Amino acid sequence: MTKQLTIALTKGRIEEGTVELLERAGFDMSFMADKGRNLIFESPDKRFRFLLVKAPDVTTYVRHGVADIGVVGKDVLIEHPTGYLEMLDLNFGLCKFSVASTNAYDPTDHKRKRIATKYPILAKDFFNQKGEDVEIISIQGSVEIAPVIGLADAIVDIVETGNTLKANGLEVFEDICRISARMIVNKASLKNKPELLPFIKKIEGLVGDREVAFK
Ligand code: PRP
Repeated sequence: MTKQLTIALTKGRIEEGTVELLERAGFDMSFMADKGRNLIFESPDKRFRFLLVKAPDVTTYVRHGVADIGVVGKDVLIEHPTGYLEMLDLNFGLCKFSVASTNAYDPTDHKRKRIATKYPILAKDFFNQKGEDVEIISIQGSVEIAPVIGLADAIVDIVETGNTLKANGLEVFEDICRISARMIVNKASLKNKPELLPFIKKIEGLVGDREVAFK
C-alpha cells in the first residue's frame, strides 16, 4: 500500500513557490487553490498531506517525524540546525544575509561592535570567523531601526530587494551568504517510506544543483 507523505510548508511565499514547483513536476495542486483559513490539506488521491506552518516550526514538525518533508528558508535552518536532513536547494526564495548600517559605520573599527539581529547564531559565527568578538543584541523584527536610533552599530539581516535598507537610510557593508528555499526530510521517513526518495529525485530533476551567486 502506498504510504502518504506529509509535507510541512512555510506559510506565504515559500508555500506558493512550492506549489508552483509541484505543479511543474506534474502534480495537480488545484486542491490547494482555495485555501481559506485551512492549515491542513490532503490531495484527492491521498498521496500527499500538506501542513501550513510558521517557518521555524517546519523544522520542529520534521524533527518530530509528524512531517516527512519540510520546505523552509536556509535562514531558518541556520538558526535551527539539527534533527533533519537537508536534501535540496530549491533555488527559489532567493535573498542574502548582509551586514548593514548607516554611513557612519566603520567595519574596520577595532572597538567591540554591537550587532542587532534576528539571527544571533549566524551573526556571531560570521564575526567570530573574522576574529571579532561582537555583542549580539537579539531583536524580533524591524531590525533596520537599531543602528539609526543607536541600539547597535550595525545589523545582520535578510536583504532581498534592498528597499527596506534604503528606506531606513542603511547600506550593505558586507554580504554573508546566500539564502534560498530548502527541502529537509525526516531521517526515519527516508528509511520507512519508499515513496520519499523517488519524490525527492523528481523535484531534484527540476531544480538542478545550480549555485546562484548574490543577486
Ligand atoms: C525581511 C528582512 C528585511 C526585509 C528585507 O523582513 O528582515 O526587513 O525582509 O527585504 P527587502 O530587501 O526586499 O526590503 P520580513 O519581511 O521578514 O519582516 P520582519 O522584519 O518583520 O521579520
